[in-house]
Amino acid sequence: MRVLSGIQPSGSLHLGNWFGMMKKMIEYQEQEELFCFIANYHAQTSVSDGKRLAKGTLEAAANFLALGMDPEQSTFWVQSDLIEVQELAWVLSNFTPMGLLERCHSYKDKVAQGVKPNHGLFAYPVLMTADILLFQSEKVPVGKDQKQHLEVARDIAIKFNNEYGDIFTIPDPEIDDQVATIPGLDGQKMSKSYGNTIDLFTDEKSLRKQVMRIVTDPTPVDEPKNPDTCNVYQIYRLFLDKGQQEQLSKRYLAGGLGYGEVKQALFETIRDFFAPFAERRQELLADPDGLRKTLALGADKARCMANKTLRKVRKKTGLSY
Ligand code: ADP
Ligand code: TRP
Repeated sequence: MRVLSGIQPSGSLHLGNWFGMMKKMIEYQEQEELFCFIANYHAQTSVSDGKRLAKGTLEAAANFLALGMDPEQSTFWVQSDLIEVQELAWVLSNFTPMGLLERCHSYKDKVAQGVKPNHGLFAYPVLMTADILLFQSEKVPVGKDQKQHLEVARDIAIKFNNEYGDIFTIPDPEIDDQVATIPGLDGQKMSKSYGNTIDLFTDEKSLRKQVMRIVTDPTPVDEPKNPDTCNVYQIYRLFLDKGQQEQLSKRYLAGGLGYGEVKQALFETIRDFFAPFAERRQELLADPDGLRKTLALGADKARCMANKTLRKVRKKTGLSY
């Protein structure tokens, strides 16, 4: 099966990104045909500093590679290295009713937060649709926040296919219930924009600080506690297998377990889990030309596939004459 997803290179990575999307993508490499890219065009909707975007793009590539993306086995590239996606986005714009975009929550939320909307932000889901359809993707693993964008992609694909025949594969989202929304320090969705993240690649001191900031209730140490409503437990469980989850859960319910103790254990778990990846990441970042070479090879692979789809689209729509 062909699996595709992308991640924006805006800012540092957090546990929500890892559990919600990256971990699954990396695991998929073994069994599926994986397409994964750095969505730097999409990041332009929020980043206007060119130097920052360029640096963020290399960092995002290093993050993925350090965490286990294998560029030989999978196709891994930077979105803007394939100009083809912009052509498809334009073609698809003509199959995108305004109302479909006007209903998008992520657009409405940004506007509600005071962001001055522009065409890039409004058309964001069309470009995302082009990313997906260009590669005839069957499955798209994303966090719950992207669900509606996948519905838009399906709607546009169906509309186009109705007009021209079965050109595009209709993609299915894959949203794992267990990790659909990873909670942040305050129990809301973990997100850069809420400032409630636990970051993957930060120094030990900042990591400890973030974990210690997880919001807990004032239940005294010796009293029983409810793991299901505890933000520390909800994050900790992601690192534990079923048996370990049950064990910790029992300790919560028995009383005598302080939040400070669990936070310290969680901090150590996160630190030790990501330490080897952090080291590899530093090595990759120390050789930016090596990274660029890997990405250029990835773009070449992606382009072959993209052009197969585009040729059909150009023929059907009359752009080839
Ligand atoms: P942020 O909300 O911090 O800006 P992004 O929008 O860059 O994160 O998300 C990148 C990927 O990580 C997407 O696939 C998104 O669905 C996933 N993701 C982000 N935050 C979470 C979360 N708290 N829970 C689950 N998945 C998440
Ligand atoms: N919009 C996605 C996000 O912010 C990133 C993205 C861009 C994407 N194009 C995509 C995800 C195509 C899946 C498929 O997380």
